[in-house]
Order: sequence, then structure tokens, then C-alpha cells
Amino acid sequence: MENITLLNGNKIPIEMHKTVIVKKLELKPIEERLTAIKTAGNNTFNLRSTDVFLDMLTDSGTNAMSDRQQSAMLMSDDAYAGSTSWFKLEATLKKVFRKKFNFPAHQGRACEHILARCMVKPGDIIPTNYHFTTTRAHIKLQGGEFLELFIDEAMKIKSTHPFKGNIDTEKLKQSFKEHKKKIPFVRLEAGTNLIGGQPISLENIKQTAEICKQNGVPLIMDASLLQDNLYFIKTRKQSCVGKTILEICNEIADCVDIIYFSARKFGAARGGGICLNDEHLANRVRELIPLFEGFITYGGMSSREIEAIAVGIEEAMDIDNISQAPQFIKYMVDELTAAGVPVVTPAGGLGVHLDARAFLPHVKPDQFQSASLASALYIISGIRGMERGTMSEDKNPDGTEKIANLELVRLAIPRRVFTLSQSKFAIDRIIWLWKNRELIGGLKWRNEPKILRFFFGEFDAIGNWQENLAKKFIKDGGQ
Ligand code: F0G
Repeated sequence: MENITLLNGNKIPIEMHKTVIVKKLELKPIEERLTAIKTAGNNTFNLRSTDVFLDMLTDSGTNAMSDRQQSAMLMSDDAYAGSTSWFKLEATLKKVFRKKFNFPAHQGRACEHILARCMVKPGDIIPTNYHFTTTRAHIKLQGGEFLELFIDEAMKIKSTHPFKGNIDTEKLKQSFKEHKKKIPFVRLEAGTNLIGGQPISLENIKQTAEICKQNGVPLIMDASLLQDNLYFIKTRKQSCVGKTILEICNEIADCVDIIYFSARKFGAARGGGICLNDEHLANRVRELIPLFEGFITYGGMSSREIEAIAVGIEEAMDIDNISQAPQFIKYMVDELTAAGVPVVTPAGGLGVHLDARAFLPHVKPDQFQSASLASALYIISGIRGMERGTMSEDKNPDGTEKIANLELVRLAIPRRVFTLSQSKFAIDRIIWLWKNRELIGGLKWRNEPKILRFFFGEFDAIGNWQENLAKKFIKDGGQ
């Protein structure tokens, strides 16, 4: 994927692939969208995909596959044990991560479950650059807690820092002084999801590895979003421009003791894996995989997916393959910023992140600004984003809402799925919403789950702002 300059001087990202299989889309009328979001309890997870026009909920398992992936799937080996498909994936993992022991799991959170069971005990503290929802849930389940050591810049919506996902290494050193005996490992998340798909730098990974070594604890990397992070290291770090993606990937992997990933993102299929060198830990993981996932040569994945992941990871080492999503995201972020819409900058990987706090200052924080904005955007566009704010947090122990550090709506850009005209449609509708933002109101709980509330929680709108928003949109000529 490259940026091409048109003869009028405009630069646009240009795809280095062509579409060979398509899926039909439908933009349902706004009246139907209004009913659909109310039925869904204003939670975009509860929408049916047939009610969605552009599905920007997630990039998880929704990336477009290549012809090479599809053809590999036809050649898969369904053997329960010793499947050749697994050995292909294992060889690819050894090439990119260079670890001795490699295990399959059915997806990223399954890896988190296994690792947390093996490595976390009650009272443990796990320093991390930033938590992810499922990772935190598994650590809590084992009685541990995350200690988030993000850099100050990470919480600034408007920033030019190229690596906002970095861990604060001074705070990390301090945490070892304060809690040394309670720290079983340090976790770094590549392409930090919840702060807007922001990358970590190679130096930061190296420094963190050094601190871990000095303190005798392993460094774990969540590599689910490593693909975007690799792209940013290559394009934002002068000394890495000449390196191949594989070289950068190897350099990172060599700093890290344990790597796990969701292949729904890294590998552009559906599965996951854990890679490590420590034989003692590997023996424990080997015991748990058959218990919770499946035999150690499939780990809960279908052999077809294993084949697709092996090719997908190989393709993730090709800059032409991995630059499409970050370049589209940058295009959208630049256009939205020019129109004054508050979005997370610099553009990260994973998706475009709207700043719901700045969008809706008139909606009270405990009336769920991010969920309100996601609901409003769906009503006027059929675009499904994801709440990444207070609804995604756990409540305070006293039962009050824990207001999230960042109140975001994520518009994920699954890789190689959407076209530039679809991106332009999204930009157009978001700008309309920005201009009419005072019409958007808040939400109140209809049904509040106890854990991972964002998946199933349901809200009612406070008042009839949704009908008023739809009326104004129709009046302005919207469909
Ligand atoms: N770690 C990170 C950084 C993730 O982004 C995800 C999933 C997981 C772990 C869990 O992996 O879904 O395969 O079990 N993120 C998805 C998302 C759900 O939409 O961002 P999984």
C-alpha cells in the first residue's frame, strides 16, 4: 500500500490488492435503524449484522483474507493429533518470534486464561502499559491486579507523540522497588488497543526488557495488534526505515520472553497462540491446553483456520499488506481533524477513535458519553462502532460508575475491507453529527451485567433525543 499523488497534488492511499470476493451491503432506512438500536439497548454489540451498513465494530476476525489464505485452507489436515497444518503454523511462529515452545489456543483471551492460570496468584500486581478488557478480567479472576504505567502523553487526545503506547520506564523501576515480590511478570501490549491503537517503540521494548531482566521477571507481549505496531516502527523511526518488517519483528521477539496473540487480528483469521522459551512454564501450558482448548496440535482451532493463520502471519511481514489499514485510518483522522471533529491523534492502528468527552460535553459522564455517541452514529449512518469508555470499565467498589480515563468511540477499520468511498461516507456522516452534536443526549441502564458490561449491557435513552436527531437528519436530506 502506498500513498499516491494525484496530478492535482492530492495524496491518497492506494490499495496494493484487488477485490476478488465481495459481500453485499444494505443501508436500512433510518426508521428501521432507530428501532434496531432501541431493541439492542443502545449497545452496538446487540445489533444484528444485517441491520449494519459499515461494520466498524472490530477488526477481530473480520479482516479480508487473501487468495493465498483461502487456497491454504483447502489443503488443511484435520488429524486430531500431529496435524501437518499445525506444523506449518509452528514453523511460521518460529520464523517470526523465534521461540522454542509454541502452543495453539482458540483465540487471544484463551491464551490470557492459560497464562494467568500458570502465572498469577492472589495479591499479584502486573505492571502494564495499558490494560485490555479480557486480559484484565483473566488476571482478576486469578486474584491479581494490573498496574497501568502509561506515559503522560497517552492520555492526551491531541498529541504528536509517535509512540503513545510506551510504558513509563521510570514508573516501572519504581514499581519494582515498591512491589517487587508481588510482580510475576510485566505485560506490554503492542498497538495499545484502549488508548487508540497507539504503538510502542522498539527502544521502549528494549528498555523494559532490561528492567525485567534486572529484576528477574519475564516480559510478556500481547502481540494481537503487533502488525500495526510493526508498521509504525518502520515508518516512524528513522533508524528502522531500512529494516524489513521481519527483521523488526525478530528484534522485538528477541527482547520478550513470552508472546501471545489473537490471530483474529495478528494472522487475519480466527485463533491464537502462545510462544515461549521457558521449559518449566511450557510444561504447565502444555498440560492446560488440552484441558481447556483442545489437543496441542489444534488448540480449539479448525485446521482450516490454522492454515490461514500461518499464511496470514507470513503476509503480515509484507509492508504492502500491512500498510492499508493505518493509511486509511490516517486519511480519515486527517479529514476529521480538518473539520474540527475531536479524534485521537496521531492516527494509530486498529481504527479511528472519536473523543466522546469533547464531542458531548453536555452529556454527564455517568450518562455514558461514548455509548450515546456510538448509538447516535448508528442511527444516522448505519455505521456500527464500539463503545470504549465508561461502559467498558468495571464499577468502583462503592457501586458508583468508574469514569474511564478516555471516553472513546472506536471505528475499527478491518484490514483490506472498506474502500475509500466508504471511508468518505463515514467522514461525511461523522461531520454532520459533530455539527448537530447538541441534539445527542445521554443513556441510563436498562440491564447491567456484572462482568464485561460492554458485551451485553442494555441502555434506554434519557428523553427522546434519538427521535429528534433522526428528524433533523431527514430534514437535512440524510437517508
Ligand atoms: N488482546 C488485545 C490487545 C486485544 O485487542 C484482544 C481482542 C484480545 C487480547 C483478546 O483476543 O478477542 O481473540 O480473544 N480484541 C478485540 C477487539 C475483541 O475488538 O478489540 P480475542
